Amino acid sequence: MRTFEFKKKQFGNNQANSQEQQKQQWQEIQKQKKQRKEEDILVGERGGFQGFDQWDFKELPIVQHKQEILYCVENYSCVVVIAETGSGKTTKIPQYLVEAGYAINGKKIGVSQPRRIAAISIANRVAQEMGCIIGQEVGYSVRFDDNCDEELTQIKYMTDGMLINQILNDPLLSEYSVLMIDDIHERSINTDILLGLLKKIRRKNPQLKLVISSATIDAESISTFFQERVTDPKTNQVIANLTSQILYIEGRQFPVDIYYLKETTRNYVVKAVQVTLEIIRAPDKKGDILIFLTGQEEIEAFIEIIQKNFIGDAERQNLKILPLYSGLPLEDQMEVFKPSESYVRKIIVSTNIAESSITISGVVYVIDTLFHKINYYDFKRGFENLLVVPISKAAAKQRAGRAGRVQRGECYRLCTKDQFVQLYDNSTPEILRCDLSTFILQLKTLGVGDVTNFELLQQPNENAYAKALEQLFALKVIDKYCNLTQEIGHKICDFNLETKLGVLLLNSFKDDFGCSQQMLVLCSMLSLQGQVFYNGFDPATILKQKKKLGAKEGDHITLINIFLAFNHLKSSQARQGFCSDHKLNIKSLNMAVKIHDQLCKQVKRMGLKVNNSEDDIEGILRALVTAFFMNVAQLQPDGSYRNLRNKEILYLHPTSILNINFPQWVIYSEVVFSTKYYMREVSEVDPKWLLELASHYFEDQRLKQAEQKHGKEIIAQNEYEKNKQKIEEEKQKDPVMGR
Ligand code: CDP
Ligand code: MG
Repeated sequence: MRTFEFKKKQFGNNQANSQEQQKQQWQEIQKQKKQRKEEDILVGERGGFQGFDQWDFKELPIVQHKQEILYCVENYSCVVVIAETGSGKTTKIPQYLVEAGYAINGKKIGVSQPRRIAAISIANRVAQEMGCIIGQEVGYSVRFDDNCDEELTQIKYMTDGMLINQILNDPLLSEYSVLMIDDIHERSINTDILLGLLKKIRRKNPQLKLVISSATIDAESISTFFQERVTDPKTNQVIANLTSQILYIEGRQFPVDIYYLKETTRNYVVKAVQVTLEIIRAPDKKGDILIFLTGQEEIEAFIEIIQKNFIGDAERQNLKILPLYSGLPLEDQMEVFKPSESYVRKIIVSTNIAESSITISGVVYVIDTLFHKINYYDFKRGFENLLVVPISKAAAKQRAGRAGRVQRGECYRLCTKDQFVQLYDNSTPEILRCDLSTFILQLKTLGVGDVTNFELLQQPNENAYAKALEQLFALKVIDKYCNLTQEIGHKICDFNLETKLGVLLLNSFKDDFGCSQQMLVLCSMLSLQGQVFYNGFDPATILKQKKKLGAKEGDHITLINIFLAFNHLKSSQARQGFCSDHKLNIKSLNMAVKIHDQLCKQVKRMGLKVNNSEDDIEGILRALVTAFFMNVAQLQPDGSYRNLRNKEILYLHPTSILNINFPQWVIYSEVVFSTKYYMREVSEVDPKWLLELASHYFEDQRLKQAEQKHGKEIIAQNEYEKNKQKIEEEKQKDPVMGR
């Protein structure tokens, strides 16, 4: 039986305390703590920058709350722990649970993480703290890498995605006594799915305890979500009372001074370089620097600029610059944790990966550009965009907190104080701003019948569901009863690719197309988060290189050519040379090779036979139609294109190889927005294929209309030829920033 000091001291022997009084007393304490947490920002003045806020915390918090945490876990079925990043939630709580006997009789403590790198690095850290070998008492399970031991493992760190997958084999998650869902403030789509699934699971497995951790203070909605009385549907009797408690934990280790710019900056990458150089060159500033940018391109630009600005060898040798973004191979990401020699200072240039789920020791300075890149689905147009948008105040607070781990820290926010005040308090959860088709597919695979009634913390609107269902139906992933189809729906889940790419790859195995070998390559290249060409060059230079490597049929074949040429070279020196000759990004291509290897292994596991009808470019283009038929566009007299589905005007991206010949009909796999909507990866298609391969979508009528217009198109083409020069000039003026 588990009993705890805290319980005895606070409530145990006091006869006057009825259960209800105990609860009230408890809630009062928590309310006070919550208020203190909300008030923990002070404002002051300081030279250089405009002013500063200061947080003053005294000591490492979780340790003193051990008994309190254990008391709550024992007495409530769900505990929501709210504590700052770096307080010890992820590393300490699971260890306390093991000590208290929650990992006996073959049960485990499971901890889900939003990211791979967090699951791996924290499992290693905890194994070290517990003095055990990683993979024994403490293990991790991430995609393609599971080192947990069936018998020995007591604490299992895993990604949200892995835990969701596990539900397929162990629907009640009976392997775990306690599940900790960590860092839910990030509100990734996987976290939201997981919370919804756990709500269902606990009705059938009420013994499963939950610990939900978050670094922000919106805890009530989560607590309420998991609070319910489960009744027997037949007898209406209460069979389980699922209770929930919020635990506010105060404090952080060291204070962090926050600085704001006096004046707005126009280019935050350049400003971040300036501030970094100032810190490096200030004699009294020691310690590592963490810079937050939005993605691979900006991170690479930052590194390039700062390297050009180093003065002399001493500066160069005493600094270690480390990029950190999710598209970077995991080994390279893990570099940030390696201790450096004492005289070498680390400059970590990261996306929001380093915001809350991982701790990089030694960071004293944070430079926050206050932007991040998010997926945003434009429901009206039906495009998914990657947009760079300001972060929320809550996220900025997390980022600043990364500076105060080892000593008093400093955070430089690259905006004015007035601008900062205008930021939203919290970010919009991913589930409210993304294309829901992958989400629906995931739930369907898990056997959730009516997805629109699946309980979530926040419900997306009906229109978003309707759009996604329509898309899945058109792709033949679901049937008219909204069930997964045998021939496509049930199979593509195993690829772990974005839905359309999954359909594309699967269809390429059919004899009609016979191009799965090439599609494995193309899907790997299209899954990359970063760009294939190096970002520092203007579109014209990239286009020149593309012409050397490319195929006139379009960018998709060009991508395949690039991959094959790169992969053909075996030495890293030759690969490096190839990339610098053609302005290619070697990191992206290395990543593509990895994804390709993983996909090939998966295809083999599924027993699919890879086919290769060499040089059958038409086969590849026809296969593209089976997945991207919604993305077909027709040339307009002014050189723009009009999407056949929703009549939206789109433009060829200046780096598209089709800028040479402007074909009448094109198919694209991606739209990016800068000043206009640009189709980025584009290939030529024959409109006949649309009727042949996607007749269910393009009813005869619609295409006939388009064909009737064909006469007009010839006129349009002539018109275009006449105005070509003017159109080209217009294009040159348009500064395309890419993603
Ligand atoms: O989960 P939470 O953000 O509350 O904190 P944590 O990840 O459990 O980390 C607690 C403390 O452990 C940090 O403040 C660091 O001092 C230390 N830690 C570390 O130095 N290196 C790691 N890889 C993980 C944690
Ligand atoms: Mg954590």
